[in-house]
Amino acid sequence: MSYYEIRGGRPLDGRLTVQGAKNSVLPILAAALLAPGQSVLHNCPQLSDVAATLDILRLLGCRVDREGDTVLVDASALCRVNIPERLMREMRSSVIFLGALLARLGTAELTYPGGCELGPRPIDLHLSALRSLGAEIQDIQGCLCCRQRKKPAGRELCLSMPSVGATENAMLAACGCSGITTLVGAAREPEIVDLQRFLNAMGADVAGAGESIITIRGGRPLHPAEFSVMGDRIAAATYLCGTAAAGGQIELAGVEPETLTAVLSCLEEAGCTLQTGESRIALTCQAPLKGIAPVRTAPYPGFPTDAQAILMAALAGGEGTTMFVENIFDSRYGHVDELRRMGADIQIAGRVAVVTGAGRLHGAAVRGGDLRGGAALVVAGLGAEGVTRVSGLRHICRGYQCLDRDLAQLGADIQEIPEG
Ligand code: EPZ
Repeated sequence: MSYYEIRGGRPLDGRLTVQGAKNSVLPILAAALLAPGQSVLHNCPQLSDVAATLDILRLLGCRVDREGDTVLVDASALCRVNIPERLMREMRSSVIFLGALLARLGTAELTYPGGCELGPRPIDLHLSALRSLGAEIQDIQGCLCCRQRKKPAGRELCLSMPSVGATENAMLAACGCSGITTLVGAAREPEIVDLQRFLNAMGADVAGAGESIITIRGGRPLHPAEFSVMGDRIAAATYLCGTAAAGGQIELAGVEPETLTAVLSCLEEAGCTLQTGESRIALTCQAPLKGIAPVRTAPYPGFPTDAQAILMAALAGGEGTTMFVENIFDSRYGHVDELRRMGADIQIAGRVAVVTGAGRLHGAAVRGGDLRGGAALVVAGLGAEGVTRVSGLRHICRGYQCLDRDLAQLGADIQEIPEG
């Protein structure tokens, strides 16, 4: 595998249009199964997680084509309902296909998605929501065999915690249930609002996404739709934190500032100047970052867990002390040891990490162990003194279309070097 070689300390400068949102396009691609015919999805980022999802759609019998950032999915010939283990392991969020297959064909078979670098990835909330909507689910030696009862009816169901994936799975399954389904305790992430927009473009009647109560009037005939995926707020946070780490000024287009308010307020508190407008965010940083009030990750609209490592990497090269509390995943500090190799002063106790800005970090050879942890090491390298080599690019490629090219466009000295 190759690695990124970054010569740090160069201020960033320029303008960039942010890629489509990975965490929006994945459930939307599953939703395309709900109706026969061809859906046209614009602003689909070219990521390995998206490629894996397209492979699943093809395996299930769909015709899938890609023309640049546009993906065409024709689900007319959907004929299979089982997703093999190798694809489930490759893409844990493929559990989202459960709800769509139950709604369209009334049956689905897939294996547990398995744990990952962030800790266990249970799907109990997905399964209990789908069972509430009439699905019979049997665990046969690790394979989930699901069958929807005849003429499933909608109902009120409560999520014990605002799981993003379980909310999306329930929305998709409810489209196949007659009558009204009310999701109470739903996750409020912007990607769920995007899914609602796509479902309604298909002729569904979904309302309330973005709030904690979502209603779905199911059983309606659905049709394919043409749709443009929202901008990726976590990718945007990555470029903003990279500029905060290296200094400079950038302007991002194609992302709505209100989808990452919690991140923007942390960057402003740390000393950055921000200007926002419709689908644009401009950031200027001309001094070392200061320590800020405790950063506690939380369900939206709280501080996003996906931006925790990225912001930490920027603050580690600043001045002052900041406490982080990771409340969403059990082990999402895999990047800390690697940041320490670059001179970062970070103490961990359970869910708490205390970052003491040690002034500029120094370059080192580091390895990303997960998607956002890998991106965080790139952010740290942009501000570090000297050369940083970041390996583990297979993780980064899951969520960033071309992180090195985008950063180089903003003036960073970064290039991908083939290993060996
Ligand atoms: C989505 O994952 C995102 N992935 C994640 O982004 C993101 O970190 C996460 O939401 C939280 O915002 C996609 O959208 C593809 P959850 P998801 O269900 O749906 C526990 C990235 O870097 N839980 O909201 O899997 C779970 O273990 C990725 O882009 C259960 O206990 O997240 C976790 O602790 C990483 N039982 C918490 O809830 C369940 O049935 C939040 O998980 C489901 C989840």
